[in-house]
Amino acid sequence: MTDIAIITGGGGGLGREIALGLAGAGYGVVVADVDERAAHTCAALVEGYGVPARAVRADVRDDADLDRIVAAARELGGPRVLVNNAGGWTPGRQYPAATAAEWGATIQLNLVAPMRLTQLVLEPMRAHGGGAVVNVASSGGVGFDPYGSPEYGAAKAGLIRLTSSLGALDGVRVMCVVPDWIGLDRAHAQWERMSAAERDRSGPLIPPSEVVAVVRDLIRDGAGGTVVELPGGGPLTVHAPRDGWPGRSG
Ligand SMILES: NC(=O)c1ccc[n+]([C@@H]2O[C@H](COP(=O)([O-])OP(=O)(O)OC[C@H]3O[C@@H](n4cnc5c(N)ncnc54)[C@H](O)[C@@H]3O)[C@@H](O)[C@H]2O)c1
Repeated sequence: MTDIAIITGGGGGLGREIALGLAGAGYGVVVADVDERAAHTCAALVEGYGVPARAVRADVRDDADLDRIVAAARELGGPRVLVNNAGGWTPGRQYPAATAAEWGATIQLNLVAPMRLTQLVLEPMRAHGGGAVVNVASSGGVGFDPYGSPEYGAAKAGLIRLTSSLGALDGVRVMCVVPDWIGLDRAHAQWERMSAAERDRSGPLIPPSEVVAVVRDLIRDGAGGTVVELPGGGPLTVHAPRDGWPGRSG
């Protein structure tokens, strides 16, 4: 039977790359995206790999939509994998100029939604003998310098610590990737408009395929609690849980 992966924000950007990467590795995919057309387009591409796919129009900030995502995965016989990929900055102004509703929605998107969806997949994953959750954080969630979207940075920092805090949950491994700026179409357009000095400061863009490869490796054999940082142009940093990690009761 085909293992089923849920990808949030799978209709575009990095999520779409991950969806196609996992389809190429033989996974069936539930493409969950607030953009229904994008979800359907990606699901059709996934099916082109000869694996099952479902498109689910879902806003991951809505609990009822999260239930529908998991129901779609169950219908396909899963899920075995969850990639909490949907995320992003507050549209327009950032904290503290943004209203509580605006910055709260960013924390909901980048931290609360992955927490809720992880809770929802535990039971069906265990019923299939275990599974893997990969959270997509950001280098914006790491460090001690000022950052342009404090609420996004704080939510991603929370997502990283959530991952290392959870580790493995009774057969479900929770892991995290922490990419710097990824070379998606939008980034290449921005890159073209930047000065040489700005490009030097930001470092090279990360090819999306490198992020996808790390996600695939973690799903295949990453230890629960592993956090992988992907800097632009530098080597990966793997933060693996220590031997003898005491688990949730420690
Ligand atoms: N792009 C980068 O350089 C970069 C760098 C580091 C981390 N990240 C992280 O990678 C992930 C993907 O980033 P991206 O640039 O591909 O994002 P994106 O803005 O291109 O969005 C990807 C998809 O998510 C969907 N989406 C947005 N809000 C949603 C919601 N509420 N519910 C469901 N779907 C929703 C969009 O419709 C889109 O199809 C995010 O978590 C982001 O924080 C991105």
